[in-house]
Amino acid sequence: MSQAIEVVPTGAALGAEVRGVDLRLLDEAAFEAIHRAWLDHAVLLFRGQALSDDDLIAFSRRFGELDWAPVQENGRRFVEGKPEIYIVSNVLGPDGQPIGSLGAGEAVWHTDMSYLPMPPKASLLYAREIPPQGGDTHFASMYAAYDLLPEALKARCAGLMVKHDGTYNSGGFLRAGVTPTDDPRDAPGHLHPLVCRHPETGRRMLYLGRRRLAYIAGLPLEESEALLDALWSCATRPEICWTNRWRVGDLVLWDNRCTMHRRDPFDPAARRIMHRTQVKGAAPPAA
Ligand code: OGA
Ligand code: MN
Repeated sequence: MSQAIEVVPTGAALGAEVRGVDLRLLDEAAFEAIHRAWLDHAVLLFRGQALSDDDLIAFSRRFGELDWAPVQENGRRFVEGKPEIYIVSNVLGPDGQPIGSLGAGEAVWHTDMSYLPMPPKASLLYAREIPPQGGDTHFASMYAAYDLLPEALKARCAGLMVKHDGTYNSGGFLRAGVTPTDDPRDAPGHLHPLVCRHPETGRRMLYLGRRRLAYIAGLPLEESEALLDALWSCATRPEICWTNRWRVGDLVLWDNRCTMHRRDPFDPAARRIMHRTQVKGAAPPAA
């Protein structure tokens, strides 16, 4: 029997809450409705879920093959025997090492792993423990960001490629094995089209990744910086954002092709434990 799924848009430029569903018990029709809502709203929130790592992996797999999680900041992988699970946490384990990544500070605006040639198409983040305050996650629509660019700026972007830096993660931690540089032209990363077309919705979107050490190929550094600053001031305007104030049991699924996200800091003495998966994606096509 199909579950009576209700999709309630947030009223913001992106995001919807999906009600009336237990993600452990989805039939094909319910999954199709969720998939459609995900393409329409880019970010979906499912409250009150009770997911083991295996449940999270099983639901995530319905969207496609999963990536292995990135390596933790201390160079280790996360969950023994479950290489698909990435932990975002400030909590210390018995050995005094963090059990996950990103600490308790701000995680700046980013798209997950866009410094790779084929970034994940989706990320799924599940809340196991949440601090009493702080640690909210904000999402921005990169469709809306493109749409609100002044025409002259849209024209300026046409045909340009932007380097998505791979030196630091969103928490500001140096990635394992990278020698840092301050010059965006030398930073490691991958060039993607600055304006992409979503492979499933066909809509145009701005594809920025992250600000630090970004570089627009072929431009003098000062011109690249000025253009990026102009684009970023549009791409993070409050009117194209939506925020999730987490509750334990929330699962948030985002389309990693057409959104960016960032996280507020929280009290480092409080505990926050999130488990994440990511679904394999393809190279973002130019618009
Ligand atoms: C992530 C991420 C932010 C958060 O898991 O990719 O950026 O709120 N998380 O934990
Ligand atoms: Mn992220």
